[in-house]
Order: sequence, then C-alpha cells, then structure tokens
Amino acid sequence: MNEFLKDVWEGLSAPQKSLNSKYFYDEEGDRIFREIMDCPEYYLTKCELDIFVNQSKNIAKSINGNLADFDLVELGPGDCTKSEYLLRELLVTHKHFTYYPIDISENIINQINTSLPNRIPGINIHGLNGDYMAMLEKLNELSAKNKVVLFLGSSIGNFPLTENPSFFRHLKQYLKPGDLLITGFDLKKDASVILNAYNDEAGITKRFNLNLLKRINNTLGADFDLDQFEHSPIYDLGSGACISYLASKIEQSVQIGSMGSIHFAKDELIYMEISQKYTVEDTHTIAYQSGFSPIGEFYDSKKWFVDALWRNNE
Ligand SMILES: C[S@@+](CC[C@H](N)C(=O)[O-])C[C@H]1O[C@@H](n2cnc3c(N)ncnc32)[C@H](O)[C@@H]1O
Repeated sequence: MNEFLKDVWEGLSAPQKSLNSKYFYDEEGDRIFREIMDCPEYYLTKCELDIFVNQSKNIAKSINGNLADFDLVELGPGDCTKSEYLLRELLVTHKHFTYYPIDISENIINQINTSLPNRIPGINIHGLNGDYMAMLEKLNELSAKNKVVLFLGSSIGNFPLTENPSFFRHLKQYLKPGDLLITGFDLKKDASVILNAYNDEAGITKRFNLNLLKRINNTLGADFDLDQFEHSPIYDLGSGACISYLASKIEQSVQIGSMGSIHFAKDELIYMEISQKYTVEDTHTIAYQSGFSPIGEFYDSKKWFVDALWRNNE
C-alpha cells in the first residue's frame, strides 16, 4: 500500500486522530510555508536569520576550529535563505566541501539544485530527495568525510519533547565521533507571542494546515470539505508545547479513497503538528541524553532563539 495512504488511514483511525506533519510539504505547502516565514507574527525565521546574517563568521570559525575537512549536510533546508550566509563564509575558508541538502519535498530539492549555483557561484551541491535518515544512510555510501549537520528552523520542535533524544540518537548512528551538529531551538517566551506565530491574522497558517486535507483529497481520492474544519492552535506554558489542531465544525464522515470512511464528532480534533518551545537547559539535557556535547550557542538579538552547536561524542 502507498505509504502516504497507510499513514493517513492509521493516523485518522486512532482514538486521537492525527496527521504526520511531514506531509505538509507538497508544492503548494512549500509555497504557503514561505508565506508563513514572511508574515509579521512568525518571528522564528526572522530571529534565526538575524543569527545567520550576523554570526555566520563566528559559526564558520567554530566549525573550522573543530574539523579540518568536512561535508555540510542540511536536514529540511526549505529555500536555504539562512544557511546561504554560512555557506558563503565556509566557501571563503574551505573551498572543497560539498553541500548535501536533504528534503522529502522533491520540489525543494529541484529548486535548490537549480537556484543555488547561481546564488553562490563555485558551490558543490548534491541534493538528496527523501526522508532524513534514509538519505543520511545513502550519503554515507557517497562520502566518508566528517559531517557538519544543520537542522534549522526549530524543526526538532516538530517532534514531541520526549522523542527528541531518540531522534538525535538515531541521527548519531550516521555520524562519526567529532562530527558537528547545529540545531535551531525556539526558546520559551511570552505566551501570546508564541500563539500568534501559529495563528496569524491573515490566516496563512490556517491555509497551510487545510492544504494537507486538500492534498489528501487530490492524491488519495478523499472528500474532506475544507469549510467544515477550523484551525485551532493551543500553547501550554508549562510544557512549552504549542500544538496545531484542525477541529471538525460539525458531525461528519469523510471518505478516504477506497479505504473506507472516517467519522468525526462535532468539535473533534485532528492533531496536526507540535512546535515545542525550550529553555537553554532543556537543550543541554537533550544533548547529553543523546550522546553529544554542547560546545557553542548562537543567539538572536532578542534571545528568543538559539542555534546550538554540538559535537558528537565517541
Ligand atoms: C518547516 S520547513 C523548515 C525549513 C528550513 N529548515 C527553515 O528553517 O526555514 C521543514 C522542511 O523539512 C522537510 N521535511 C519535513 N519532514 C521531513 C523528513 N522526515 N525528511 C526529510 N525532509 C523533511 C520539509 O519538506 C520542509 O522543507
């Protein structure tokens, strides 16, 4: 059975209905996500851009101080607006690295392969289209060099906090001792600032979430009525979990292709995506639990976001 169909059917058949957020990113999803990044409420991209615009020299210095020769891998690069600053710095000091962007969206990889050589002349790029871990395995067959892995945007926050160490331990299986990892973590801050970032006034995030239902309709032959679902994010100050749900406005049944139909009670929720917020201490705990040592931290000017540099232990 098609993996997308299997995941959708299993997710919607569970007592707490859910959809896997990795399926947000079809061509339309990539486009809407770029709109989210530009909307005034979505501070995450602006903060991390501040870090890469102003501190790429220092980040490059830390990388060069730890590794003589390496490849740069980026997990889920989007349009690489932020990493582009670091790539330029690294090219000055270190001409021979290859940039390996890994993304499940074919559209993203095609765009990077075409546009980046024009934006950064002289760069070696080898885009890999697929799931993070499968592509890291493939990459290890292509190159035996040390790796610097970028995982930006607080994409790690799209996994529940309790699963963060297992994600990094899984990643560690594809790394050598001494390899470096730079992860973006969105830090805890005023609750309204956080909630507004996932509930923008123009309704872009709402469109982003509903687009996944549209994708399921278009590719799996489902009949979701998009007008009968409401975007409903919540932020829990204590745990730092910001969760986007879609709520069914009415009692209804939705046909999922030939699989069967799914019943929704009025106000029943589909869990769409978590965006976890962290303290700096949380990030240290996760590093140690995962077999990495924190060796550097790069903050934006408001201290709302941190890019943490970790070294892979033995
Ligand atoms: C939220 S965007 C972040 C983009 C960028 N890192 C940034 O900071 O702006 C997440 C990206 O990761 C990709 N992605 C999500 N889950 C993935 C997975 N399991 N394997 C590979 N790529 C994935 C998506 O296609 C998308 O391009």
